[in-house]
Amino acid sequence: MKLVKTKDGSYTAFSEIAGEHYHTISGAIEEAFEKHVNALGIENGMHILDFCFGLGYNSIAACKDHDNLQIIGLENDLKIIEAMKDIEILDILKIKFDAFRDIAENLDVTDNNNNRIQILLGDALQKIDELSNEIFDRVFFDPFSPKKQPEMWSEEIFQKIYNKMKIGAKLSTYSCAKQIRKNMISVGFKVMDGPVIGRKSPATIAVKE
Ligand SMILES: C[S@@+](CC[C@H](N)C(=O)[O-])C[C@H]1O[C@@H](n2cnc3c(N)ncnc32)[C@H](O)[C@@H]1O
Repeated sequence: MKLVKTKDGSYTAFSEIAGEHYHTISGAIEEAFEKHVNALGIENGMHILDFCFGLGYNSIAACKDHDNLQIIGLENDLKIIEAMKDIEILDILKIKFDAFRDIAENLDVTDNNNNRIQILLGDALQKIDELSNEIFDRVFFDPFSPKKQPEMWSEEIFQKIYNKMKIGAKLSTYSCAKQIRKNMISVGFKVMDGPVIGRKSPATIAVKE
């Protein structure tokens, strides 16, 4: 697993298979907070789906300053979850991250604020079918890019995720590609620009109205 320092001082990984970094190199932890957690707004007690959990930055950033979150993380690579054990973390997230460092051991950890993260290990395209309907308030949608993993960004997957979100629930993702937004809209999402972080184009927020 090759780790790379990003411009905010936090580390990301590089996938040889996808040929992509796991986060923007402008700042991995900044991306977790700005494109996902702060862009969606998190409230205590929410149910969150972390679609492509990786190093868990999005989920753990959500747990910082919140209580009673119920988070399901989908991830197919145990090695990246194991990398959480020793990765160096910026002070802003370190205390919270330490609570979840050993999550690779049994894939289910609850912190002192009763925030629970459960990982479903396996192909997210299949694991999504194991989840009940209409339970999620927020979704962090974070696969590799549509160019590298077009199957993850299909209308069919967005439909499955949409069906598992409550009315008023929101999804965040870094891509603003036209075809991706079209797929989101065609299953019923309202689509808006997310923040512009680390590049010229905006992220995307999708809302189930
Ligand atoms: C862009 S990275 C996500 C970064 C992550 N959100 C984080 O904060 O570290 C994409 C992740 O999707 C995972 N992944 C790729 N294909 C998958 C699949 N079919 N099912 C589940 N996870 C997958 C990769 O192992 C990788 O951890």
